[in-house]
Amino acid sequence: MAATTTAPTVPADLDALVRVGPRDELAPVTVVSGGRHGIAVFAVAGGERVYAVDNRCPHMGFPLHKGSVRDGILTCHWHHARFDLASGGTFDQFADDVQTYAVVNDDGIVYVDPRSHRADRVDHAKERLRDGLEQSINLVLAKNVLALLEAGVAPAEVLAIGGAFGARYREAGWRSGLTILTAMGNILPRLDPDDRVFALYHGLVNVARDCAGQPPRHPLDSLPEAATPPDRLKAWFRQFVEVRDSDGAERALLTAVTNDPAPAVLADLLASAGTDHAFLDGGHTLDFVNKARELLDLIGWEHAAAILPSLTPVLAASRRSEELNSWRHPVDLIALLDPVFARLDDLAARAGADPAWHASDEFIATLHGDDPAAIVAALTTALEVGAPPTAVTRAVSYAAALRVARFHTSNEFGDWITVLHTFTYANATHQLMRRSPSAALLRGVYHGALSLYLDRFLNMPAARLSHERPAGLETLPVEPGALLAH
Ligand code: FES
Repeated sequence: MAATTTAPTVPADLDALVRVGPRDELAPVTVVSGGRHGIAVFAVAGGERVYAVDNRCPHMGFPLHKGSVRDGILTCHWHHARFDLASGGTFDQFADDVQTYAVVNDDGIVYVDPRSHRADRVDHAKERLRDGLEQSINLVLAKNVLALLEAGVAPAEVLAIGGAFGARYREAGWRSGLTILTAMGNILPRLDPDDRVFALYHGLVNVARDCAGQPPRHPLDSLPEAATPPDRLKAWFRQFVEVRDSDGAERALLTAVTNDPAPAVLADLLASAGTDHAFLDGGHTLDFVNKARELLDLIGWEHAAAILPSLTPVLAASRRSEELNSWRHPVDLIALLDPVFARLDDLAARAGADPAWHASDEFIATLHGDDPAAIVAALTTALEVGAPPTAVTRAVSYAAALRVARFHTSNEFGDWITVLHTFTYANATHQLMRRSPSAALLRGVYHGALSLYLDRFLNMPAARLSHERPAGLETLPVEPGALLAH
């Protein structure tokens, strides 16, 4: 930037500059108009060196002309952020680099060029966004999401930065922060443009929190010879997940990605492994698989090699519900499923023959019932008579959503989380079935329905739905005393 020189530097467009004053008469600090917040001009060593910076601290806006300069460092007095006066670079990551302006000496008269000369504004904001993620500094995240959107950067680019960071900087892999980021990405088109910054910000804050203090994941490469057939890679991937070998699974997955298959092929590979065991990690794992697929739909599948490997440690480490007492006793739900799963290919072949099939009230009532054998039989019969798999997954999702709607607020919050997880699992199965249907994924239908069965007492007492309530709010008294007595 910014210091004057003894040889005058006079740009052709002198009129565009802001006059500060005779160099020999400059006060230690002068504020001139320009920039977005005024420009603070600091004359050091009696005007021997002159620097100009934005007069608003990039942290929270303290006027920097009230700061102190010593040894070439400008200190803001609000939270004591320090800046190199010459470059504007900060030493304190909670702040940000301050904008500098060129200083011109025209025959002893000092001018400032108020036009920003940070040509790399977008690159700088992206870099600072990564800094904010690394150090989990919410203010830095907020400011740079705002800067990027204001600069016209597509929200998908912001999602891609957050996604790549979250997938890379957490050794244990995908977690709720990336799920929230993806959910925020999904709702962006429905938000007012001014509100999109909040959605992206909340997603990124949760990604940063998940990664804070965590060891990073060390990415592997695909196999040197990528010509392995897709079916072989899928079998390897499932086998490696089966024995909880995350590294082996990652190499098989990356090789599959290198082969550049259709997104549905990769989603099927992951969903198959995600349903090889019952209701992995309380339903989280299949939901994460689906959310990773949704994130790639938002940011582009060219990012698959950066995003998808974050699922392998999760798949490999997930708790398998067949290991849980609740799934084995007093009713062995896994044993109930064994004969059905032995004929999955047959069921998949018959499913879809009746596109008009829809879930009756009786079908939904059975899913909400207390007879797991009847639930399994109802699902199997539906597929046998030709119900489209997506119609069945939709019905299970609807039944699970009703559990959430009927959850009474007098119950434990932790129990609400349980019914919520059944719903998110059922929804993940439905979304995956829509895009990459397979016989293997039908297992997720049964697992979701049996989790719904296990939740059956979490609707006691059942909350009434709005149309079941005897009176609307409009009938309530409005006088405070009458309201208290109501
Ligand atoms: S406003 Fe300057 S350090 Fe906080």
